Amino acid sequence: MKDSYDLIIIGGGPGGYEAAIRAGQLGMSVACIEKRVHKGEPALGGTCLNVGCIPSKALLDSSHRYEMIKDEVEEHGISTGEVAIDISKMLSRKDAIVKQLTGGVAALLKGNKADWLQGTGTLLDGKGEDKKVQFTPLDGGEAVTLTAKNVILASGSVPIDIPVAPIDHEYIVDSTGALDFPEVPARLGVIGAGVIGLELGSVWRRLGAEVVVYEAMPTFLAAADSAVSKEAMKLLAKQGLDIRLDTKVTNAEVKDGKVVVTTDAKGETKEETFDKLIVCVGRRAYKENLLGEDAGVELTERGLVAVNDYCRTNLDGVYAIGDLVRGPMLAHKAMEEGMMAVERIHGEKVQVNYDTIISVIYTHPEIAWVGMTEEQAKEQGIDVKTGQFSLAANGRALAAGEGQGFIKVVADAKTDRLLGMHAVASGAGDIVHQGMIAMEFVSSIEDLQLMTFAHPTISEAVHEAVLSADGRAIHAIQRKRK
Ligand code: FAD
Ligand code: NAI
Repeated sequence: MKDSYDLIIIGGGPGGYEAAIRAGQLGMSVACIEKRVHKGEPALGGTCLNVGCIPSKALLDSSHRYEMIKDEVEEHGISTGEVAIDISKMLSRKDAIVKQLTGGVAALLKGNKADWLQGTGTLLDGKGEDKKVQFTPLDGGEAVTLTAKNVILASGSVPIDIPVAPIDHEYIVDSTGALDFPEVPARLGVIGAGVIGLELGSVWRRLGAEVVVYEAMPTFLAAADSAVSKEAMKLLAKQGLDIRLDTKVTNAEVKDGKVVVTTDAKGETKEETFDKLIVCVGRRAYKENLLGEDAGVELTERGLVAVNDYCRTNLDGVYAIGDLVRGPMLAHKAMEEGMMAVERIHGEKVQVNYDTIISVIYTHPEIAWVGMTEEQAKEQGIDVKTGQFSLAANGRALAAGEGQGFIKVVADAKTDRLLGMHAVASGAGDIVHQGMIAMEFVSSIEDLQLMTFAHPTISEAVHEAVLSADGRAIHAIQRKRK
């Protein structure tokens, strides 16, 4: 540890640790302060690597394999005998993946000469040229004041608590608790049909739980294109997720080792009993011990750190990124902001294109999109044309037993410019990257129509969707034609 750095980053999640690596690559002296202790050991990687993206995807993968082997391989002529799941082994595999990745991040910081300071960072004063940051070590050592020319705040977010369902870490849990159930709950309640509710609800349903998801809003996945949310709702319900829209949980309490949940659906009160209840109603910016009284950093009305388009706060040389600031709470958004902040500190004029941040919900099939929905484009007064192609007519999807869902494109009818791509499909998260790249290059629908897509691939459905925008899809009867 030095006394003074070119850059101090507070928070070692995907936003902070990528910023530290990039700063090291650019030759800055950099420290990343991270206080997280995961399963007894100090850990980099933030929410994403320790209790978010990665462990949830490990469980999604294990549970998907289990369900496939149990229910789907028979039609291929494969017989297996009785299929069983060892939950403790599944959780150990997840933990090993997390450890491998977080250890890898520590090695990357070291390899890029970025110091990882294990403890809490507090910006005491960000106003002058030399910013003051207090570092309080995890090991109980004395707090020291460090100086830095630049500071990046990257302290991330934590789950929102609701008073009607207080977390007790045993029966009523947040997303972190739901990654470590020691056994499959027979009945699982979930509050919030958002990204976490659908992903973790799917994990435990596939493993055998009866899952009820309560959603306060009347609309399912309101941020998604309405055709996508309708299709996703239909498919998830068919899989057995019992999603109750327009239903508010008014009380949840533990009685005799069970969680009794009271709900109000349009005035109708109901009581149901579960073995576990997951509360996943969104996340909030985490600022505990982040800013001293004289830090000088302005916040928004909603308690986020206020930043401009380039993640600069109101203070010169002080940046804030990731879940702590406006925009979607996504790891890849945090990462790009971290790199942008460092490169701006280094004098580059880079920027993040917030119009092409991809959303993916890792259910099966996946739900993913980039750019404008049809509804958003219409709200902006754009003369919209859309194209859609069903996976049921895609040879590769059918061969793989993945004929559910569709790919949809949204375009400007006047200019032919691609504005959005939406998919409910196996691998949708990867598929919509084609839309992202096309949008970055300001592609027209015609540009994509004129490209050759390999056969047989699921990507051919992208080609057919852009062809169908002009009534030209080959493997579907076209009502409008060009
Ligand atoms: P974080 O990852 O939250 O990291 C911030 C770090 O700062 C934390 O480790 C914290 O300990 C540390 N810190 C805070 N204050 C201080 C301080 N004062 N001093 C020192 N250290 C401090 N996003 C996706 O894009 N894809 C996914 O598949 C996905 N899955 C998710 C699944 C779950 C269950 C959850 C909960 C989230 C998921 N997310 C996913 C969201 C993603 O995890 C976050 O958007 C991302 O981690 C935000 O990165 P960050 O760097 O801003 O903050
Ligand atoms: P979310 O914002 O996705 O969903 C929360 C849901 O809960 C919303 O539908 C909301 O209407 C509902 N809700 C809010 N209060 C409620 C109440 N009192 N009763 C019933 N329903 C209520 O938030 P979630 O799922 O907690 O995830 C947090 C964040 O983590 C997300 O914003 C997302 O950005 C990130 N994340 C991303 C993932 C991915 O990219 N695949 C995976 C998991 C999380």
